[in-house]
Amino acid sequence: MLVLGIAGSPRLNGNTAYAVQRALEVVAGEGLETEFITLADRNVGYCTGCYACRATHACVIDDDMSPIYEALRRCDGLIVGSPVYMGLISAQLKALMDRTILFRLGGPFELAGKVGAAIACGAFRNGGQERVLADIQTFFLEHDMFVVSDGQPFSHFGATICGLAEQDELGLRTVDSLARRIAAAAKRLH
Ligand SMILES: Cc1cc2nc3c(=O)[nH]c(=O)nc-3n(C[C@H](O)[C@H](O)[C@H](O)COP(=O)(O)O)c2cc1C
Repeated sequence: MLVLGIAGSPRLNGNTAYAVQRALEVVAGEGLETEFITLADRNVGYCTGCYACRATHACVIDDDMSPIYEALRRCDGLIVGSPVYMGLISAQLKALMDRTILFRLGGPFELAGKVGAAIACGAFRNGGQERVLADIQTFFLEHDMFVVSDGQPFSHFGATICGLAEQDELGLRTVDSLARRIAAAAKRLH
Protein backbone atom coordinates (compact mmCIF):
# COMPACT_ATOMS: atom_id res chain seq x y z
CA MET A 1 0.00 0.00 0.00
CA LEU A 2 1.50 3.28 -1.15
CA VAL A 3 1.00 6.84 0.04
CA LEU A 4 2.34 9.47 -2.35
CA GLY A 5 3.25 12.94 -1.09
CA ILE A 6 3.43 15.89 -3.46
CA ALA A 7 4.94 19.22 -2.40
CA GLY A 8 3.61 21.98 -4.65
CA SER A 9 6.19 24.64 -3.86
CA PRO A 10 8.84 25.94 -6.27
CA ARG A 11 11.25 25.89 -3.30
CA LEU A 12 13.16 22.63 -3.07
CA ASN A 13 13.65 22.36 0.69
CA GLY A 14 11.04 24.79 1.93
CA ASN A 15 8.26 24.47 4.45
CA THR A 16 5.91 22.51 2.21
CA ALA A 17 8.56 19.92 1.41
CA TYR A 18 9.36 19.64 5.13
CA ALA A 19 5.71 19.18 6.13
CA VAL A 20 4.90 16.67 3.38
CA GLN A 21 8.05 14.65 4.08
CA ARG A 22 7.31 14.64 7.79
CA ALA A 23 3.79 13.37 7.06
CA LEU A 24 5.29 10.60 4.92
CA GLU A 25 7.65 9.61 7.76
CA VAL A 26 4.64 9.17 10.04
CA VAL A 27 2.86 7.17 7.34
CA ALA A 28 5.94 4.96 6.96
CA GLY A 29 5.89 4.44 10.72
CA GLU A 30 2.36 3.07 10.30
CA GLY A 31 3.79 0.39 7.99
CA LEU A 32 2.88 1.83 4.58
CA GLU A 33 5.14 2.49 1.62
CA THR A 34 5.77 6.12 0.74
CA GLU A 35 6.97 8.15 -2.22
CA PHE A 36 7.80 11.86 -2.34
CA ILE A 37 7.60 14.22 -5.29
CA THR A 38 8.45 17.90 -5.22
CA LEU A 39 7.38 20.17 -8.04
CA ALA A 40 10.45 22.32 -7.36
CA ASP A 41 12.59 20.18 -9.65
CA ARG A 42 9.92 19.21 -12.18
CA ASN A 43 8.80 20.87 -15.35
CA VAL A 44 5.02 20.62 -15.55
CA GLY A 45 3.44 22.64 -18.34
CA TYR A 46 -0.09 24.00 -18.54
CA CYS A 47 -3.03 22.02 -19.84
CA THR A 48 -3.92 23.47 -23.24
CA GLY A 49 -7.46 22.13 -23.28
CA CYS A 50 -6.90 20.06 -26.42
CA TYR A 51 -8.97 17.15 -25.06
CA ALA A 52 -6.80 14.59 -26.88
CA CYS A 53 -6.70 12.72 -23.56
CA ARG A 54 -10.42 12.04 -23.77
CA ALA A 55 -9.72 9.24 -26.25
CA THR A 56 -6.31 8.10 -25.07
CA HIS A 57 -6.09 8.72 -21.29
CA ALA A 58 -2.64 10.12 -22.07
CA CYS A 59 -1.36 13.70 -22.41
CA VAL A 60 0.21 14.97 -25.62
CA ILE A 61 2.57 17.24 -23.66
CA ASP A 62 5.95 15.58 -23.19
CA ASP A 63 7.27 16.79 -19.84
CA ASP A 64 7.76 15.75 -16.23
CA MET A 65 4.07 14.91 -15.75
CA SER A 66 4.64 11.43 -17.21
CA PRO A 67 6.23 9.90 -14.08
CA ILE A 68 3.81 11.86 -11.89
CA TYR A 69 0.86 10.29 -13.74
CA GLU A 70 2.31 6.86 -13.02
CA ALA A 71 2.86 7.67 -9.33
CA LEU A 72 -0.71 8.95 -9.05
CA ARG A 73 -2.03 5.76 -10.65
CA ARG A 74 0.07 3.59 -8.31
CA CYS A 75 -0.79 5.24 -5.00
CA ASP A 76 -3.59 4.31 -2.61
CA GLY A 77 -3.31 7.53 -0.62
CA LEU A 78 -2.26 11.01 -1.71
CA ILE A 79 -0.96 13.84 0.47
CA VAL A 80 -0.83 17.17 -1.34
CA GLY A 81 0.86 20.22 0.17
CA SER A 82 0.96 23.76 -1.13
CA PRO A 83 2.43 27.04 0.01
CA VAL A 84 -0.12 29.84 0.26
CA TYR A 85 0.50 32.16 -2.67
CA MET A 86 -1.57 35.35 -2.63
CA GLY A 87 -4.17 33.49 -0.57
CA LEU A 88 -4.34 30.62 -3.07
CA ILE A 89 -2.50 27.45 -4.09
CA SER A 90 0.77 27.75 -5.99
CA ALA A 91 0.73 28.03 -9.78
CA GLN A 92 2.94 24.93 -9.95
CA LEU A 93 0.35 22.85 -8.12
CA LYS A 94 -2.55 24.24 -10.17
CA ALA A 95 -0.71 23.26 -13.36
CA LEU A 96 -0.40 19.71 -12.05
CA MET A 97 -4.06 19.61 -11.01
CA ASP A 98 -5.26 20.73 -14.45
CA ARG A 99 -3.10 18.13 -16.15
CA THR A 100 -4.86 15.36 -14.17
CA ILE A 101 -8.10 15.92 -16.07
CA LEU A 102 -7.19 12.89 -18.18
CA PHE A 103 -7.97 10.68 -15.17
CA ARG A 104 -11.61 11.82 -15.41
CA LEU A 105 -12.19 11.79 -19.15
CA GLY A 106 -13.46 9.06 -21.43
CA GLY A 107 -13.88 6.25 -18.94
CA PRO A 108 -14.02 5.33 -15.29
CA PHE A 109 -12.34 7.85 -13.02
CA GLU A 110 -8.85 6.47 -12.46
CA LEU A 111 -8.24 8.08 -9.08
CA ALA A 112 -11.67 7.23 -7.65
CA GLY A 113 -11.61 5.62 -4.22
CA LYS A 114 -8.12 6.76 -3.31
CA VAL A 115 -7.82 8.76 -0.12
CA GLY A 116 -6.51 12.33 -0.01
CA ALA A 117 -5.12 14.62 2.67
CA ALA A 118 -4.18 18.30 2.37
CA ILE A 119 -1.44 20.47 3.88
CA ALA A 120 -1.14 24.25 3.56
CA CYS A 121 1.89 26.34 4.54
CA GLY A 122 1.71 30.11 4.90
CA ALA A 123 3.77 32.85 6.48
CA PHE A 124 0.86 34.15 8.55
CA ARG A 125 -1.57 32.53 10.96
CA ASN A 126 -4.59 33.38 8.82
CA GLY A 127 -2.79 33.89 5.52
CA GLY A 128 -5.15 31.73 3.49
CA GLN A 129 -4.28 28.21 4.66
CA GLU A 130 -7.91 27.11 5.03
CA ARG A 131 -8.74 28.28 1.54
CA VAL A 132 -5.75 26.38 0.16
CA LEU A 133 -6.89 23.24 1.99
CA ALA A 134 -10.34 23.67 0.45
CA ASP A 135 -8.81 23.97 -3.04
CA ILE A 136 -6.80 20.80 -2.60
CA GLN A 137 -9.82 18.96 -1.21
CA THR A 138 -11.90 20.17 -4.16
CA PHE A 139 -9.29 18.57 -6.41
CA PHE A 140 -9.67 15.26 -4.49
CA LEU A 141 -13.47 15.43 -4.75
CA GLU A 142 -13.30 16.14 -8.50
CA HIS A 143 -11.48 12.83 -8.80
CA ASP A 144 -14.12 11.01 -6.71
CA MET A 145 -11.57 10.45 -3.97
CA PHE A 146 -12.19 10.28 -0.25
CA VAL A 147 -10.95 13.18 1.87
CA VAL A 148 -9.69 12.92 5.43
CA SER A 149 -9.54 15.60 8.11
CA ASP A 150 -6.55 15.87 10.39
CA GLY A 151 -8.33 13.46 12.70
CA GLN A 152 -8.75 13.55 16.43
CA PRO A 153 -8.10 15.34 18.74
CA PHE A 154 -8.49 18.42 16.49
CA SER A 155 -10.29 17.08 13.39
CA HIS A 156 -10.50 20.18 11.26
CA PHE A 157 -9.74 20.60 7.58
CA GLY A 158 -6.24 19.19 7.15
CA ALA A 159 -2.84 20.34 8.35
CA THR A 160 -1.73 23.96 8.46
CA ILE A 161 1.72 25.40 8.99
CA CYS A 162 2.41 29.00 9.95
CA GLY A 163 5.92 30.36 9.42
CA LEU A 164 8.91 28.03 9.64
CA ALA A 165 7.54 24.49 9.53
CA GLU A 166 10.11 22.93 11.84
CA GLN A 167 9.34 25.54 14.52
CA ASP A 168 5.55 25.42 14.32
CA GLU A 169 4.82 22.88 17.04
CA LEU A 170 1.04 23.08 16.82
CA GLY A 171 1.16 22.97 13.02
CA LEU A 172 3.35 19.88 13.13
CA ARG A 173 0.84 18.21 15.44
CA THR A 174 -1.78 18.71 12.72
CA VAL A 175 0.65 17.25 10.17
CA ASP A 176 1.30 14.16 12.32
CA SER A 177 -2.37 13.68 13.06
CA LEU A 178 -3.30 14.06 9.39
CA ALA A 179 -0.66 11.48 8.45
CA ARG A 180 -1.96 8.94 10.97
CA ARG A 181 -5.47 9.56 9.66
CA ILE A 182 -4.62 8.97 5.99
CA ALA A 183 -2.67 5.85 6.91
CA ALA A 184 -5.64 4.46 8.84
CA ALA A 185 -8.07 5.39 6.06
CA ALA A 186 -5.89 3.84 3.35
CA LYS A 187 -5.67 0.61 5.34
CA ARG A 188 -9.45 0.51 5.77
CA LEU A 189 -10.24 1.33 2.16
CA HIS A 190 -7.72 -0.90 0.47
C1 LIG B 1 4.36 34.94 -4.21
C2 LIG B 1 4.13 34.63 -2.76
C3 LIG B 1 2.89 34.85 -2.21
C4 LIG B 1 2.64 34.55 -0.87
N1 LIG B 1 1.40 34.77 -0.37
C5 LIG B 1 1.14 34.43 0.92
C6 LIG B 1 -0.16 34.61 1.47
O1 LIG B 1 -1.09 35.07 0.81
N2 LIG B 1 -0.37 34.22 2.74
C7 LIG B 1 0.63 33.71 3.52
O2 LIG B 1 0.38 33.37 4.69
N3 LIG B 1 1.88 33.53 3.03
C8 LIG B 1 2.16 33.87 1.76
N4 LIG B 1 3.41 33.67 1.23
C9 LIG B 1 4.43 33.05 2.07
C10 LIG B 1 4.53 31.53 1.85
O3 LIG B 1 3.26 30.93 1.76
C11 LIG B 1 5.27 30.89 3.01
O4 LIG B 1 6.55 31.46 3.14
C12 LIG B 1 5.37 29.38 2.84
O5 LIG B 1 5.86 28.83 4.04
C13 LIG B 1 6.28 29.02 1.69
O6 LIG B 1 6.36 27.63 1.57
P1 LIG B 1 7.65 26.95 0.91
O7 LIG B 1 8.81 27.22 1.83
O8 LIG B 1 7.30 25.51 0.83
O9 LIG B 1 7.80 27.57 -0.43
C14 LIG B 1 3.68 34.00 -0.09
C15 LIG B 1 4.95 33.79 -0.66
C16 LIG B 1 5.17 34.10 -1.98
C17 LIG B 1 6.54 33.86 -2.58
